[in-house]
Amino acid sequence: MSSDKVRLALLGCGTVGTEVVRLLHEQSADLTARIGAPLELVGIAVRRPGRQRGSDIDPALFTTDALGLVKRDDVDVVIEVVGGIEPARSWLTEALRAGKSVVTANKALLAEDGATLHDAAAEGGADLYYEAAVAGAIPLLRPLRESLHGDRVTRVTGIVNGTTNFILSSMDATGAGFGEALDEATELGYAEADPTADVEGFDAAAKAAILASLAFHTRVTAADVFREGMTGVTAADMASAKEMGCTIKLLCIAQRGPDSAGTDSVSVRVHPAMIPRSHPLAGVGDAFNAVFVEAEAAGQLMFYGRGAGGTPTASAVLGDIVAAARNRLSGTRAPSESSYAHLPIRPIGESVTRYHISLDVADRQGVLATVAGVFAQHEVSIATVRQSGREDDATLVIVTHGAPDANLAATVEDLRALDIVRSIASVLRVEGGA
Ligand code: NDP
Ligand code: HSE
Repeated sequence: MSSDKVRLALLGCGTVGTEVVRLLHEQSADLTARIGAPLELVGIAVRRPGRQRGSDIDPALFTTDALGLVKRDDVDVVIEVVGGIEPARSWLTEALRAGKSVVTANKALLAEDGATLHDAAAEGGADLYYEAAVAGAIPLLRPLRESLHGDRVTRVTGIVNGTTNFILSSMDATGAGFGEALDEATELGYAEADPTADVEGFDAAAKAAILASLAFHTRVTAADVFREGMTGVTAADMASAKEMGCTIKLLCIAQRGPDSAGTDSVSVRVHPAMIPRSHPLAGVGDAFNAVFVEAEAAGQLMFYGRGAGGTPTASAVLGDIVAAARNRLSGTRAPSESSYAHLPIRPIGESVTRYHISLDVADRQGVLATVAGVFAQHEVSIATVRQSGREDDATLVIVTHGAPDANLAATVEDLRALDIVRSIASVLRVEGGA
């Protein structure tokens, strides 16, 4: 490495990458002062080098040969803002094994195969930073990776997907259905043309895996995360939540605790849930993200801010670039991966949750007793029951106390089979003490 500057290779120059270049340029003097040496951007890999980037970038920097750029001798830090599993994984393992620092925003790769990147970083003695991969601009991974390393984190509960939070906030505010709120999110540029990764919870599940890995010192992948999307949340569900003093959010919940055999374990899930309006996450509106961390000594901590968008995400990338550059100049390293705890993953069936179930039933004698009997049979205790009638039919809204998810799922299955139950209008988990 040249001792008088730190040389950067940028892979990807789209929504995030163009903002990284702009901030590198605009804040050049401050960054130099903070690092103690200037940063120099030596190349940018893209698919279509001739494309207008909306930014004043020297055309000579562009190449389509990302691997060639990574391998150049004059590159100290590789910044990856392309996304996806391959070829990003090959580029980054090549860089790390060669001892180059890596800064990436690639949540999909970290959640699917973070182990390969961490192993390559250990092999090459290189830094791997990825603050932008979860909750965009919010400083969250560094606190989990460093500040809370003297404590024992017990639970992380987060709203980590801006698109779905915008949709659910809009449904809550206006009474709109999912489709109408999604159309609004698309018009305003929050939702992508294909919103599947957001609304089906894949994006949040990737982030949940990264958070759980850091919080519990255990390798957790996206495949370990129980995932349920939010496309089934209806205007009626939101109205029912309101009646209970709740709202509905797509939550990621990572929790440490004993499994059914008493062994310390980790459960990670993503699903829509009702939460009371008094919960700190209930007031997180629009496309904002927030993560609520509970630790034994620290107590409750809340992280809040913009979880997406080119400029906020670039802020997190720039922070990582500064850290990596400082480390290179001082000959130090970022904290390496901490996965010593090797905790087993607890299946969703063992997670203790509460359910809100809305049933359309025949309105006649003995129906309530029969329904209550099904709950009792599966050892699920009922907390509240509300009934509203329409001629021969009635709607029952039942909220349970906490029970293993498997017991609740079996209860719902048996309710479905009853001839007095015309339909099960909705089943939602309830979180946060309502
Ligand atoms: P974009 O799609 O806007 O940009 C992707 C960039 O990668 C483009 O410049 C594209 O080139 C380039 N690229 C794609 N394939 C290749 C290839 N094979 N070789 C070289 N370059 C390639 O993505 P974003 O900027 O939105 O996201 C980048 C990363 O940041 C992703 O991992 C994403 O998950 C993450 N992220 C994004 C956030 C956001 O708000 N956008 C928030 C947090 C994280 P070209 O321009 O020529 O097509
Ligand atoms: N699609 C994601 C969101 C982008 O809506 O939050 C940030 O990861």
